[in-house]
Amino acid sequence: MPARLARHRVDVPDAFDHVAHRYDLLTGMNPGYRRHLALSARRLALDPGSRVLDLCCGTGLSTQAIASEIPDAEIVALDASAGMLAVARRKRLGSGVQFVLGDAMAPEEAGIRGPFDGILMAYGIRNVPEPDACLTRLYRLLSPGGSICFHEYSVADSRWSRFVWNAVSLGVVIPSGLLFSGSSRIYRYLRRSVNEFDGVRAFERRLSRAGFEAVQTEPMDGWQRGIVHSFLARRPG
Ligand SMILES: C[S@@+](CC[C@H](N)C(=O)[O-])C[C@H]1O[C@@H](n2cnc3c(N)ncnc32)[C@H](O)[C@@H]1O
Repeated sequence: MPARLARHRVDVPDAFDHVAHRYDLLTGMNPGYRRHLALSARRLALDPGSRVLDLCCGTGLSTQAIASEIPDAEIVALDASAGMLAVARRKRLGSGVQFVLGDAMAPEEAGIRGPFDGILMAYGIRNVPEPDACLTRLYRLLSPGGSICFHEYSVADSRWSRFVWNAVSLGVVIPSGLLFSGSSRIYRYLRRSVNEFDGVRAFERRLSRAGFEAVQTEPMDGWQRGIVHSFLARRPG
């Protein structure tokens, strides 16, 4: 295991199990969280009725964003945390949505079969142990010409973005997590993992190396500008 992972190793889905009951409350306090997910879902630019994979769907907020932005979408939503999925299932998003327990590193083992017209992975790629291997699997699950969006934090390219991220994390996110969910573990991990994740250019290069084309990055507004991004790409047709 690389030293970086060994030092910070957190069983991420297990940690999410423990905060699942408070996740929607906490993200509800984050201005723009849901609107930005909807923006990323819209940026997939998919037709009504498209088949969409929501990878690392958590409590289903990203699933809801897809359902609201892509009429009649057939959505398969996967997450490795049973606790997060239990909250997602309670949302009763309708018969077009199927929630599946499984690992983003091996979606096929959870019975996920392509092709998908689009994939949204919101706050997921940063957490997987081998991002390049994950990208290869996602590429194969997409139909030729299909589009993918990674809705993700990336601050490494900008000193200002890093400063704002660490100020918000230390001043708001970690204390609120401790107050409302009784543990700050996953929020301390969040701060570290964002600080260690690829910069925008490095992640774009990673997508190109995986074979994706039309790679481009779109910003969010509010305090998340320069911090959260839609990383968009397509499988060549
Ligand atoms: C920050 S939440 C994001 C949830 C949702 N996409 C949203 O935008 O609200 C990250 C989710 O990724 C899941 N996750 C982390 N690693 C995973 C893996 N290897 N396979 C599947 N899910 C994973 C966690 O269980 C958690 O629910």
